[in-house]
Amino acid sequence: MSAETIRVSRGWLGLRERADAAARDQELVRLLRRRLPPGGPQVIHDLACGSGSMGRWLAPLLTGPQRWILHDRDADLLAIAAADLPGPAADGATVTGETRLCDITQLGRDDLAGATLITASALLDLLTRDELAALIRSCVGACCPVLLTLSVTGRAQLAPADQLDSRVAAAFDAHQRRTTPRGRLLGPDAVEAAVEESRGLGAEVVVRPSPWRLGAAEAGLAVEWLTGWVAAACEQEAGLAADADLYRRRRLREARAGRLDVTVGHADVLVLP
Ligand SMILES: C[S@@+](CC[C@H](N)C(=O)[O-])C[C@H]1O[C@@H](n2cnc3c(N)ncnc32)[C@H](O)[C@@H]1O
Repeated sequence: MSAETIRVSRGWLGLRERADAAARDQELVRLLRRRLPPGGPQVIHDLACGSGSMGRWLAPLLTGPQRWILHDRDADLLAIAAADLPGPAADGATVTGETRLCDITQLGRDDLAGATLITASALLDLLTRDELAALIRSCVGACCPVLLTLSVTGRAQLAPADQLDSRVAAAFDAHQRRTTPRGRLLGPDAVEAAVEESRGLGAEVVVRPSPWRLGAAEAGLAVEWLTGWVAAACEQEAGLAADADLYRRRRLREARAGRLDVTVGHADVLVLP
């Protein structure tokens, strides 16, 4: 998936919502709750919200009234997010939401003024180092907690193992770090970069693993993920295509039959000003 040209499909986001919810780290939410203004109201900016899955996951884990401001550059995804707003809060308090069509790499301090929490999910690895640095500066400048979930860390693992796994995994990770007209994407380096940028601004940072663990119960997602994973690897390393054809068919057969376990590395980052 590339942030510069390819739009993220509604189907893909719908397919991954349950696995994302299961993967995001709950310990960070406990830490976060202690740092939010007690009783609210919370003003929460979700950056690159897609169809709004972060809010649907997090709003019921927080207490007090919440106002979610959902940012994305894709108007179609924002329309889905607006039609399926998060809430209610854990204590039954009201949750409201609004959408903002924007490029989150161009956010200024004023755009986040008054925020009590900033969130983003499955975003950082799509950014370049400069874009990430600017985003972290804007977020830390807002002087509120920032919860950045599900950034890919690379090193996907499949069980049972196959001798081609590591070659495909390496080519995929290289694809995620590819150079685009905007610069080199961070891919699996995003978490380290976010930690470095945040600590450089004096913020406290906590990182927790949040891998997808896809077994038979998530076979549909495993099939879609595997298809994209092998395709991106072959795009990156043309010489892989001949060997990868049989590999893909074998792995897809296993995934459809619920005989493949896939672990996709992600990490969640909580930045505390
Ligand atoms: C992988 S999806 C994640 C969506 C959502 N956060 C979730 O967890 O389901 C990445 C999202 O980032 C958005 N996006 C990527 N780059 C963006 C940018 N520069 N400005 C605004 N939105 C962006 C895409 O439109 C897409 O909705």
